[in-house]
Amino acid sequence: MKPKGMIIPQYMEIFFDFVEKDHEKHNALARGGHDFLHACRVAQSAWIISEKYSTKVCAWIAGMLHNTDRFYSEKEIPNFLKRALSLTPFHSQSLESTMIIESILNHHKPNDENDNEVTIVLKDADRISDLEIIQIIRSAQFHPHSFIYDPENPSHVVDTSKDFSSSLFTNIHRVLEWEHDPKMQLRNPKAIEMAKPGFIFLKQALNDFERQLALLSMW
Ligand SMILES: [Fe+2]
Repeated sequence: MKPKGMIIPQYMEIFFDFVEKDHEKHNALARGGHDFLHACRVAQSAWIISEKYSTKVCAWIAGMLHNTDRFYSEKEIPNFLKRALSLTPFHSQSLESTMIIESILNHHKPNDENDNEVTIVLKDADRISDLEIIQIIRSAQFHPHSFIYDPENPSHVVDTSKDFSSSLFTNIHRVLEWEHDPKMQLRNPKAIEMAKPGFIFLKQALNDFERQLALLSMW
């Protein structure tokens, strides 16, 4: 399945099919928070926000492969990535392969001043590709059994207790921190620009949430 508008760089069709088949094998073509479509959106975002062509290609590959940690154990990941990268123009000892692998292994961590250029793009792309309504849908997909909010204290933003740490409400607040928290802030100028409507939408969603509960005198 090639999503409409999907960019596939030259000589990367076989690699693209390989990644799709791997997601299919793990029952993750178009379902769950880390499905093939998420990988495609992250790769596409990475392509769009990268400034240099060489970074575009590496960050696109990293985006396509960044769900790897959801499907394979730590022990299995290096072998899988080696196999996947053998289908790209970059041989396993190349600087590009090293940067791609590093970015995949670190993409879920907070910003770090030692992040390589591919990691910087992948972290931003992973954050911005699903802002707005998709962010809310994915939060629900990730935590289908979580509370939507803390019913006794709905305005309670960050609750680290087991029940509410992954509530939909807390997750939206967490995403909004990407706008200002230096550890999570976007770093690529194009990503910062692209994310603006997403942050506005999520703030509006929280306002609507508050208004709805206030109408019921439950805020
Ligand atoms: Fe992701």
